[in-house]
Amino acid sequence: MSYEKPGLASKHFDDLFNSLPSMEGKTVAISGTTSGTGFVAANACGKLGAKVLLLNRPSDRAKAALEKLKANNSNGSFTQIDCDLQSFASVKKAAKKLHTQCPDGLDVLCNNAGVMALEDYATEDGFDVQMQTNHLSHFLLTKLCFDLLEKAGDARGEARIVNHSSIARQQVKKLEAAYLGKNGGNLGGNGASMLFGGARWVRYGQTKLANAAFTASLHEKLTAKGSKVKALVAHPGLAETDLQSTTVTDGGMGKWFTKQLMKLGQSREDGALGILTCIAHPDAQSGQFFGPGMGGMFTALKGPAVGYPLETSYDNPQTRELLWSQSCAAIGDAFDI
Ligand SMILES: NC(=O)c1ccc[n+]([C@@H]2O[C@H](COP(=O)([O-])OP(=O)(O)OC[C@H]3O[C@@H](n4cnc5c(N)ncnc54)[C@H](OP(=O)(O)O)[C@@H]3O)[C@@H](O)[C@H]2O)c1
Repeated sequence: MSYEKPGLASKHFDDLFNSLPSMEGKTVAISGTTSGTGFVAANACGKLGAKVLLLNRPSDRAKAALEKLKANNSNGSFTQIDCDLQSFASVKKAAKKLHTQCPDGLDVLCNNAGVMALEDYATEDGFDVQMQTNHLSHFLLTKLCFDLLEKAGDARGEARIVNHSSIARQQVKKLEAAYLGKNGGNLGGNGASMLFGGARWVRYGQTKLANAAFTASLHEKLTAKGSKVKALVAHPGLAETDLQSTTVTDGGMGKWFTKQLMKLGQSREDGALGILTCIAHPDAQSGQFFGPGMGGMFTALKGPAVGYPLETSYDNPQTRELLWSQSCAAIGDAFDI
């Protein structure tokens, strides 16, 4: 039971793409490139000449995306690395493969993949499916690849960690430890009201706040260390991707409501402006947040990606500490920067 996409035209993508420098000699790893913003970003990086590593769970969608990216591009190279973000064991295997694929370091790790408003259930590791997919596995991946990022930073002057948040970060007041803990399946049930605090949406909001808080924590630690690795975060506004189809299929959004809502949004290409800016724009700085606007629902849905500072709702000592300590507890390891 999917919904029919309205089919929105891209308005700003070419302007950004045409302003970006060559990425020849750079290696970029992007999670979730089978569709949506990840596919667009991978395609763009390939066209700019990068070696692109596609972190996807194995599927026909992943195979088809790889073939399409190769067919679209003559400049870049694409390699699939199996990585199921619902499983820490899979993420650990992917990190090992990244080490063999990146002998000269990793220039960009883009933690893009995500799921939205799914039912309340636990992964094999015991965490909420949304929190593990959207944040905890990306935290683990970043920790395991941090040496590769530092290597690229030392060799070529900088490297970047790019996280993908959402307007939904503002749908919850503050980050709560319970959502980062081993409480999968016990986090409020399957309430699906997006506008009136349905539990599926509260869990999604917590994950997207975690993406922003992770960036703030990284930025603080990297700055203190004088690291050449930058931490940036983006949001895509409301972008016409497969995210809404997955949520509709899972029962998190109604078909008719979704179709009406998406008319207020933008194309998947324009939705990728934020992450692509973070990945490739020479002026993007650590600690910046790129997206079409920083206001809440209905004020930041579409438009060119603009750079904003991080917000105090998550860039504060308590939230940064909570995010880091709970994420380390979840992966069962320290992440020292
Ligand atoms: N679209 C929007 O309006 C919107 C708004 C705010 C934020 N975002 C954020 O944008 C990011 C990209 O989403 P999108 O809109 O481009 O949606 P999308 O088209 O559904 O793409 C999501 C990607 O994540 C991958 N993924 C999901 N679960 C995974 C897992 N367990 N392991 C590995 N990969 C997995 C999917 O791969 P499979 O083919 O394996 O499922 C897919 O490639 C997400 O972080 C989302 O929260 C989107």
